[in-house]
Amino acid sequence: MSRLWNVAVAGATGAVGNQMIRCLEERNFPVKNIKFLASTRSVGKSLPFKGTPIAVEELKEDSFKGVDIALFSAGASTSLKFAPLAAQAGCVVIDNSSAFRMDPKIPLVVPECNAKRIRKGPGIIANPNCSTIQMVVALKPIHVKLGIKRIIVSTYQAVSGTGQKAIFELRDQIADLAAGKEPTIKVYPYQIAYNCLPHIDVFLDNGYTKEEMKMVNETRKILEDDSIKISATTVRVPVYYGHSEAVNIKTLKKTTPQEVRKLLQKAPGVVVVDDIANKVYPTALMSEGKDEVFVGRIREDFSDRNGIAMWIVSDNIRKGAATNAVQIAEIWAQKAGS
Ligand SMILES: NC(=O)c1ccc[n+]([C@@H]2O[C@H](COP(=O)([O-])OP(=O)(O)OC[C@H]3O[C@@H](n4cnc5c(N)ncnc54)[C@H](OP(=O)(O)O)[C@@H]3O)[C@@H](O)[C@H]2O)c1
Repeated sequence: MSRLWNVAVAGATGAVGNQMIRCLEERNFPVKNIKFLASTRSVGKSLPFKGTPIAVEELKEDSFKGVDIALFSAGASTSLKFAPLAAQAGCVVIDNSSAFRMDPKIPLVVPECNAKRIRKGPGIIANPNCSTIQMVVALKPIHVKLGIKRIIVSTYQAVSGTGQKAIFELRDQIADLAAGKEPTIKVYPYQIAYNCLPHIDVFLDNGYTKEEMKMVNETRKILEDDSIKISATTVRVPVYYGHSEAVNIKTLKKTTPQEVRKLLQKAPGVVVVDDIANKVYPTALMSEGKDEVFVGRIREDFSDRNGIAMWIVSDNIRKGAATNAVQIAEIWAQKAGS
């Protein structure tokens, strides 16, 4: 990648935006100029990029003049308003919100699964939901080799998935309870400290939550197979970073845990952490700050002839959001720069 690019991060002050900046630095993305955009609340703040403080600007209609790549993580309503304007101004927009994910004209990309959907030139590319990303990275090679017919997944999702305010809420509730005070509940409907809430995003008419249906619809779009039957239960747990998922699949062809382990050991972006004799399996804490998807507890599902169960863990802010977006930007830059 010899060409340098003008980059904007919209939502730079948020949980995901902040990690996007760290990923651009760590991966040495070829940046010519960088701008940080957020709401009026953040004007006057500055954030470091490679040791240099950069002033945060207000996100406005004309923010994208001269920008090549815009990484968006400022919520769906902000993306709906500004991402098309950025694309019209000549940018490729890599959007972390749910605004465009299911639009059939817009690619929904996890590089390990469908990098071929990244087109060069301006336009919008959607970054999937965090819980979907880590699941499809692990399931794609299994689907290609063995065909997945059905997925049952239960998630254990970190509070950072709700953004910076939820990180503070968990921290404050733990401190209040330790001090014998009544905890303040603002972000979630119930206390999240020492609790589990089977409720992520809004409830829909079919009894599932929007987060659960994101896992169903986005997985089918990324794996390019609408015939896969999927049912998800998504649960918020009092963990700061790292989503964990108990995933149970039914394959077309009979397989074994050994075969699945071998497939995953060769899979891009996956690390198999699976040695129960030595109590070795992935945990949310060990995934924190890492870019890979960790898979363990791979075992036969005794309740079904072609069933396999596994435990999939990844840092929701890294691979679940920022890293995936920057990987897309890298592939786009390779294609556009060639
Ligand atoms: N957290 C995750 O695991 C995760 C994973 C995948 C996708 N996402 C998506 O990424 C987006 C951001 O999530 P987050 O967790 O980073 O949230 P967050 O910590 O609450 O940050 C939100 C960011 O958006 C900015 N913003 C909000 N309203 C704005 C407006 N009207 N104009 C300009 N900027 C505005 C905020 O700026 P101020 O600081 O100025 O308010 C802040 O920079 C959401 O769409 C979320 O669904 C999150």
